[in-house]
Amino acid sequence: MLTAVARAVHREEPPPWVLDDTLAFELAGDDAPLIKRRIREELSPEALLSFTRWVAVRARLPEDMVEAAAAQGVRQYVILGAGLDSFAYRRTDLLAQIRVFEVDQPASQAWKRQRLEELGIHPPGNLTFAPIDFETQTLRERLVAAGFDFAAPAVFSWIGVTMYLTVDAIRSTLATIAACAPGTRVVLTYNQPPSALSDLAREVETTIRRFADESGEPFVSLFVPSQIEELLREVGFNEITHFGPEEAVRTYFAGRSDVRFGGAQRLIAATVMARNI
Ligand SMILES: C[S@@+](CC[C@H](N)C(=O)[O-])C[C@H]1O[C@@H](n2cnc3c(N)ncnc32)[C@H](O)[C@@H]1O
Repeated sequence: MLTAVARAVHREEPPPWVLDDTLAFELAGDDAPLIKRRIREELSPEALLSFTRWVAVRARLPEDMVEAAAAQGVRQYVILGAGLDSFAYRRTDLLAQIRVFEVDQPASQAWKRQRLEELGIHPPGNLTFAPIDFETQTLRERLVAAGFDFAAPAVFSWIGVTMYLTVDAIRSTLATIAACAPGTRVVLTYNQPPSALSDLAREVETTIRRFADESGEPFVSLFVPSQIEELLREVGFNEITHFGPEEAVRTYFAGRSDVRFGGAQRLIAATVMARNI
């Protein structure tokens, strides 16, 4: 709910927006106005902009990757820990070409489906909901049950989730993706430990961590860029691309000297390469 509200608050800035998530506020439900008020009160104006813009960036980058992949013939997109991600209900242009899998905790998924129903939004026919607990179930098993084609490439996004999971669950999930067809790409976020944070990052991180603690979802796993890269390489990924504050400004806010990101959370993308036989 918090990140959906952040995507909605991003739309209160003057356009152009990094992401035009028209559904975010409604999807977040009855608590959305309260959450919006709280983030406005509990973050300084600079920290609020840093947070809401970053949440927009981390949702946009995967959509750009899916668009590029679809143009090259990729036909599967897996959204891990989808939460209130609205890609499948907004990007009808891409939905005509690709099959989407929303993979999430059963409770989160049930809540979202109820919310979609209340809003009169019908899930498209080529969207499949696949329930999972990353800690106790394997992604492979859940995707097989959902009809995912392991012989064909896909894009996987895993946004705003790894910090809630143990390293074992992260490794096992990444290993499943790394075993997918060559050309498969993954993009994920990870949160950095406090020792790696700037003042702005620390302010954002402290407040967001408080929200997470309050909802009973404490942060468990934190990485610096070299550690997450090592984990990705260990399970077999190549072509690893780091994407943090600098890349976010260059890609989505070119020429904007007023835009600053703390960098408490970063993105990283990687590719499954053809295996040597
Ligand atoms: C902060 S939300 C991010 C949602 C969405 N990706 C976004 O960026 O707005 C975290 C998501 O991770 C999911 N999640 C957390 N722990 C999980 C677990 N053990 N198994 C499956 N999903 C989990 C939650 O259900 C929730 O949808």
